[in-house]
Amino acid sequence: MGAEVIYEVRDASKSYGSVKALSGASLKLHAGEVIGLVGDNGAGKSTLVKVLSGAHQPSEGTILLDGEERTWGSPREALEAGIETLYQDSGLAPHLTVSQNLFLGREQMMPGILGKLGFLARKRMEVQGHDDLERVGIAVPASNRPVSALSGGQRQAVAIGRAVSWARKVIILDEPTNHLGARQAGEVLNVIRAAKAKGLGVIFISHTLPHVLEVTDRIVVLRLGRIVRDAPTSQFTPDSLIAAITGSADAEPGPTSAE
Ligand SMILES: Nc1ncnc2c1ncn2[C@@H]1O[C@H](COP(=O)(O)OP(=O)(O)O)[C@@H](O)[C@H]1O
Ligand SMILES: [Mg+2]
Repeated sequence: MGAEVIYEVRDASKSYGSVKALSGASLKLHAGEVIGLVGDNGAGKSTLVKVLSGAHQPSEGTILLDGEERTWGSPREALEAGIETLYQDSGLAPHLTVSQNLFLGREQMMPGILGKLGFLARKRMEVQGHDDLERVGIAVPASNRPVSALSGGQRQAVAIGRAVSWARKVIILDEPTNHLGARQAGEVLNVIRAAKAKGLGVIFISHTLPHVLEVTDRIVVLRLGRIVRDAPTSQFTPDSLIAAITGSADAEPGPTSAE
């Protein structure tokens, strides 16, 4: 593949007290690539996400953005470097409108004297917010409605649209299709495709394996804190993916015995 590596983690480990949640994980993400990160509960997926998003510092290991070694002191630092992360819990402010949420923390001010007086360019944000969502394939009826008036699926769509429209390099989605109906989950997959088309690197965590097989270029399998498989999606079948996740493939009789 010709695309460059935009984000990389080398030999990352993370312990919580005596629990080794992540052991020597290495991962390369290319521009315009979608990686599926899968594994059973407790496999270390969220821990790896936290390391990549700046929420946790790894106990050991190196992070490189555009080939340059970086250390994130906070999620804010990673965000400012172009890495957006969306957790299961969408993090939207329910009492604010859709467009206010889209620009939360990054509000546009009116230029000139109005700007000096601190007025927000409300109308402009509304129009641009609507356009931003539309561009990534999300239709939200009225962007001037409070988020609390939306369905769970619409709320999640807004959160993802927000992340994709702001992300400059990498977007990490930790189980974004949980609790969504089939149609809304389909919308999320479209947003992932839009992010890829935009040249972003995408890391998609999901237990819904058909979604992972459908939308990713590569699948990385974590088991007990270790990456046990990292291969192009075309090399997996639904059965072989489950076997890699559960480790049942290792249990098959063969010439090599247990590690
Ligand atoms: N804050 C924490 N304190 C202690 N142990 C944790 C913490 N977060 C995760 N763990 C443990 O680390 C391991 C990996 O968890 P996690 O990364 O959440 O897995 P996943 O997201 O794949 O379900 C589990 O054994 C979990 O119990
Ligand atoms: Mg998790």
